[in-house]
Amino acid sequence: MSDFEHVFEQPPEGAAADWTIPQNWSGYTEVEHQTWNTLYERQMKILPGRACEAFMRGLDALDLNAGGIPDFEIINPKLQALTGWTVVCVPGLVPDEVFFDHLANRRFVSGQFIRKPDQLDYLQEPDIFHDVFGHVPMLTDPAFAAYMEAYGKGGQRAASLGMLPNLARLYWYTVEFGLMQEAGGVRIYGAGIVSSATESVFSLEDPSPNRLGFDLERVMKTLYRIDDFQQVYFVIDSIEALKTVTLQDFGPVYERLKGAEALPIEVVLPTDKVFTHGTQAYAAKGGRF
Ligand code: PHE
Repeated sequence: MSDFEHVFEQPPEGAAADWTIPQNWSGYTEVEHQTWNTLYERQMKILPGRACEAFMRGLDALDLNAGGIPDFEIINPKLQALTGWTVVCVPGLVPDEVFFDHLANRRFVSGQFIRKPDQLDYLQEPDIFHDVFGHVPMLTDPAFAAYMEAYGKGGQRAASLGMLPNLARLYWYTVEFGLMQEAGGVRIYGAGIVSSATESVFSLEDPSPNRLGFDLERVMKTLYRIDDFQQVYFVIDSIEALKTVTLQDFGPVYERLKGAEALPIEVVLPTDKVFTHGTQAYAAKGGRF
């Protein structure tokens, strides 16, 4: 739910006016529950020591263990009690304004389907494993919960100002592919990373990608790719720090960004705080794992 692209103009048949559909948890098959368990168990071998504390805490708080696809009727009361967020199902990518309206009201939209057993490693559309395992644990963190709500409100404003491509980059490089500095070292908080076995390792350990300090305007200028591992990751100091810089009024930021050219993905600027100046070897050999 992050590309701000959509196929339908109107909610498809069976969806409500806000585009939500029932999760229909009892309709999932054994094979689908097993797919969740396989993906979950695989990530749990990889993520301790790699995912940030807030993520690991969120997994525990929601008890998203290997008991099959989570039932929203069970996780929503827990999530709501913690931060006021809930998770709702939608049939696929939804229009920007629908997505932002849900976020602004602390509702996270999730795909209802789960990937097929032969797509465990890669799929481009977000399924329930990506959306729930990847995104929902972070929503148990009060600062991150506030950031996501503010993002929804900011999206409505950016849309009216024609600045969505810039705001989409912020989402991409934080919510989906963000890294964070912690006492023990750099850790993952981005949902696109934590839901991927291969990128969880690549993002932290591979010498190819750049790892740069997060800078709001720099990030909002940086192009990204949606079809392969990232060539650059941005590292925030903390969730609080991310919240503080994004809660400022973006009016002046947008004014400066209007005339600015987009930055190529792999560039390292003299002003960047460099954690890793990547070799870009992975992308140079054509990527795709
Ligand atoms: N502060 C932003 C604005 O004024 C809104 C925003 C908050 C955007 C948090 C993203 C994340 O538009």
